[in-house]
Amino acid sequence: MKVFVNKRIPEIGINMLKDAGLEVFIPEHDTLSHDEWLSYCKENDAILSVGGAFKYDQDFFNECPNIKTIALYSVGFDHVDIKEANQRHIPIGNTPDVLSKATSDVAFLLMQSVARRASFNFEKVKSGNWGDFDPLHALGQELYGKTLGIFGLGRIGFEMAKKAQKAFDMNIIYHNRHHNEEAERELNAKYVSFDELIEQSDVLSIHANFRPEQKELFNASIFEKMKPNAIFINTARGGFHNQKDLYDALAEHKIWGAGLDVTNPEPIFKDDPILELSNVCVLPHIGSATIEARDGMARLAAENIIAYSKGDKLPHCANPEVYNN
Ligand code: DGY
Repeated sequence: MKVFVNKRIPEIGINMLKDAGLEVFIPEHDTLSHDEWLSYCKENDAILSVGGAFKYDQDFFNECPNIKTIALYSVGFDHVDIKEANQRHIPIGNTPDVLSKATSDVAFLLMQSVARRASFNFEKVKSGNWGDFDPLHALGQELYGKTLGIFGLGRIGFEMAKKAQKAFDMNIIYHNRHHNEEAERELNAKYVSFDELIEQSDVLSIHANFRPEQKELFNASIFEKMKPNAIFINTARGGFHNQKDLYDALAEHKIWGAGLDVTNPEPIFKDDPILELSNVCVLPHIGSATIEARDGMARLAAENIIAYSKGDKLPHCANPEVYNN
C-alpha cells in the first residue's frame, strides 16, 4: 500500500510505516500547492494528513476515488466531510488522548496569562517601561474559587478542568451535547444550559469539536451576556468565535480579556487590530506542540494506517459508524 505523508512528522511514525512494509512518500518541500497536494493524493492509496489547510470534501473524494483511508495527524476532523467519507466507506483516523494534556496546558497557560496581564506587562518591559512599584497599576485578577465554564467537556476539557480545580479550586460548570459523568463524579462538574454557561463563567474555555452549524457561535450577543471580569479562551477552532465581535467586546472592556491559540481567520493577519489590544494573548495554534504529544500523534496516525493495511478496523477512528454499513 502506498502512503502519502504531506508534511514531515516525528520519525517514530515514519519508521512504523516502513517497518510494516508500506511504501511511504514524503514530498521534498513542505509547502505544497493545492494542485501538488491533489496530484500526490491521486497517486497513493492512503494519506497521513498533517494540518487543516486541505479539505477532504465531496470534490476531493470525486477527484481521488483511489483513496482508501485517511489518517489525520490531529484530533480535530472538521476539515473532513464525514458524511461523504461514510458513504464511500472510507475510515478516517484521528489522534485523540495523546494531545489532551498538552492542549489543555495551553488553555491553562492562556487563562493565567490573561488573568495576570502577561502580554501587557511583557510589552512594557520590552519597551523599556518597567516603571516604579505602583499599588494601582498592572493589576491582574486571581482565579481562586472562581467558576470555569467549559464548552465541550471531552478529554481536553476534562484535563483543563482538572488542572483549574487543583491549582485554583475553581468550580466547574459545563455545557455539552451529553452529560460527562466522569467529570460530574470526579470534579463535581455541573451541567448547565448554554445561557447559564455564558452568564456564570468567570473563565469560559472552548474544548468542543467544531461543527459547521457552530460557526461564530460566540459573537456579540454572547459577549454581551458574559461577566465583565470574564476571560474567553479558545484553543479549539477559530471558527467558533467572530473575531470582530470579540475585538469590540475586548476594546470596550465588556469582558476582561481573551486567550486565543486559534484565530478566525487562521493564520491571523499581521495587522489584525485584536493584536494591538493589551488584554489579549494570542498563540499560533501550538496546543499539541510538545515533543511528547507530537510523537504520540505520529504513533497513532501510523497505527491507523497499518491497521487498515492489515484489513483491521482503525484503532483511533473519527467515523466508527463507517463499519456499520
Ligand atoms: C488537533 O489535533 O485538532 C489540533 O488542533 C492540531 O491540529
